Amino acid sequence: MKVATLLAAIVGVASAAPGQLVSKRALTPQDINPRTGCPGYLTPGEFEFPHYITQISKSQPDKAFGPQYFGVFTPNDVSSIFSFDIPASRAGANCTLEFFFPTQSQLKTSSYTYSGAGSFFFTGYNPGSCPNAETTYNNQPKPGPFPPFPPVHMEPGNAYTIDIGPCWVGAGTCVAGLTSTNDTNFSFFQDYDECPIGIYTGYSYL
Ligand SMILES: *[C@@H]1O[C@H](CO)[C@@H](O)[C@H](O)[C@H]1NC(C)=O
Ligand SMILES: *[C@@H]1O[C@H](CO)[C@@H](O)[C@H](O)[C@H]1NC(C)=O
Ligand SMILES: *[C@@H]1O[C@H](CO)[C@@H](O)[C@H](O)[C@H]1NC(C)=O
Repeated sequence: MKVATLLAAIVGVASAAPGQLVSKRALTPQDINPRTGCPGYLTPGEFEFPHYITQISKSQPDKAFGPQYFGVFTPNDVSSIFSFDIPASRAGANCTLEFFFPTQSQLKTSSYTYSGAGSFFFTGYNPGSCPNAETTYNNQPKPGPFPPFPPVHMEPGNAYTIDIGPCWVGAGTCVAGLTSTNDTNFSFFQDYDECPIGIYTGYSYL
């Protein structure tokens, strides 16, 4: 096998692995919705807003943060858990986990603070095992069947596809994941009133 062919084969296999970062979509003009002027796009009726957001802290492992509206991250300490309810009726769709990160100037009611190198880590919990008011670092949802997703470098002005997979995995229940960082302070208000910011699950049908 020629080196180029072998490389293509390896890359092909790697890009099909569960949890692989599928694409980093820079916010090019094609991504600007002509009606809203927003980067990235959530088709109305075809996405889920996180049903529950909470934090956990490694340095305060028994602290329960309860329901939160913000995603909050500090290096190697505070991480955020985002949980989605996937209706049983979506079993036939593909689910895309996306992170929308507009620039501050594209936001009117939401805002964020961000400093650091922007390395983020995403890990999925077991479908059906989701956070609640008792969730702490020491009392997290059950680990999922998949290895951690590769680290993602996230910075303002981009939208990121974290993963694409069949929705049946979580249809009829909840699916939650942990997002953490080793080098960044980041706090944002999860919102889509203007330009979407934060993490969403989108549905697609070929
Ligand atoms: C994160 O915030 C803490 C506390 O304010 C600060 O000490 C640290 O330098 C910050 N780190 C980065 C990468 O911004
Ligand atoms: C954070 O994690 C990334 C990816 O594993 C690594 O390359 C980087 O050196 C880490 N940064 C720090 C400050 O530990
Ligand atoms: C989901 O994605 C896979 C891989 O791209 C594709 O083969 C399949 O047709 C998609 N299913 C739907 C419902 O779009």
